[in-house]
Formats: sequence, structure tokens, C-alpha cells
Amino acid sequence: MKKRAVERIPANLKAEFFWCDKVNSATVADLSENGMCINTQTCPPVRARFDVVIPVEDDVLKIPVKVRRLVKKDNTFDAIGVEISNPPRRYLDFVDSLRWRQIKGITTGGQVIKLFICNVCHHISFDHAPINCPICSATIESFEKAPEAIKRADNFAGLTEFEKKHIPVIKISKSNGYIDVNVTIGEIEHGMDIDDHITFIDFYFNDAALSKKCISRINFNCDKILYPSTTLRFNNENTGVLTVISNCIAHGNWLAKASF
Ligand SMILES: [Fe+2]
Repeated sequence: MKKRAVERIPANLKAEFFWCDKVNSATVADLSENGMCINTQTCPPVRARFDVVIPVEDDVLKIPVKVRRLVKKDNTFDAIGVEISNPPRRYLDFVDSLRWRQIKGITTGGQVIKLFICNVCHHISFDHAPINCPICSATIESFEKAPEAIKRADNFAGLTEFEKKHIPVIKISKSNGYIDVNVTIGEIEHGMDIDDHITFIDFYFNDAALSKKCISRINFNCDKILYPSTTLRFNNENTGVLTVISNCIAHGNWLAKASF
């Protein structure tokens, strides 16, 4: 048999699809970015097109597919092979998440992990572990799931002094065709002591294909002549949501967002 260009990931995912005027239950046996094997008692014919719906956590993935082959067992068709020619971005993120689980040997639970951290450079990736870290190029094996990687303020209406020292403050100004985004850590100045300083600020921007795409990192050496503050300049054709994460060597990662 011809080897697939992209290896399938074994799965056991409940799914549904609408065919023959009814919703049919199915199980996705394996999947990849461009195809699936689906176990089902109702097998649509080759070239049939429909959407496969897979529940994930509190949401659903809806994936348009086309039947490529029928699978027969004991004289009964009980599975279909489908191709996915235009996979939605969220589906690709989901596949990345499953591939990461497979690499890490995590086989239990269907939870979609939202945050991953690079154990080389501490970059945080949202929704899926990337094939290579956008900061240090480490491979996907270097990423660990990290649901608690970002600190959150308990009460934004009444930030503590500690929180005000760490949460990035974003100021936006527009002039002469540019958008200047200044980020300072934080509302109360964070010092640059050797055991408690800001090591980097990572910037993410939404992209047509990928929300929270990493676009830049500013590193800070521990030096008291520095203030943990920087400015990025954008052209004014960009509109979207900027996400900023600051990393304190002693107190972890802190997030802020702004739109422009
Ligand atoms: Fe700190």
C-alpha cells in the first residue's frame, strides 16, 4: 500500500454527521491534517460530501469532508476514508494538539490543552504546540502543556501592588501612518534585581490564519540601567488584537491585551 504523505494519528473520538436525512453517530478512528478514517454503520458513497462534527470540550469542530473509500468487514461496509481538502484552522490546531499528545505518550483524556511552554526559551504557545518554537526553533518535543503558565489577577478592579508590578501596561499612539505600541512592566515600575527582574516580553498578534501568532520577543539582561519597557512600530494598515506576555524570573508570566 502506498505510504501516506502525512501520518495518521490514532484516535477514538465521538463524532456525528448528517446523511440520509438523519444525524449519524460515528467514531473517528484516526486522523491527520488532510484525512480521517471514520467508523460508522451508515456509509455514504464515494465522492459524497458532508460535515463531520467532533465535540471538543465546550465547543465543536465542524470539518468538511469528501468520501474517498469505503471499508468492508465481514461483507458489511462499516467505515469510510475521507479527505479534508480545506481544513479549518481550529481543526489544524486540534490535530497539532493530538500529535503533541502522541509524541509525549499522553493517551488519556480528550481535553484540549490551551497553553504550551517551550522548556528551552520559556515561550508560551496558545492552543497548540508548534512544530518549531518561533523564538528558539526548538522542536515540538520541547513543549510541555502548561495550563497554569500565565498568572492571572484575582480582581482587575482592585489590582494588588504585586500585580501592578508585573502586568504589562500597553499604550498606543498613532501618527504619520504608524501605530506605536509602548509596553512597560508594569503600572508600578518593576525593578531589575538579579533575583527579580523582567527577562523578556513576547508579542503576539492575530493573523488571518492563526490567532495569537508570535511576532516578536524583546530580551532584557539583568542590569539596573535598564527599565523593562519597549516600543514596537506597526504600519497603520494593521488592525487587530495585540497580546503581550512579560516574564519575571521570580514571578512568572503575566498577560495583557490591547486592540488597535
Ligand atoms: Fe517580579
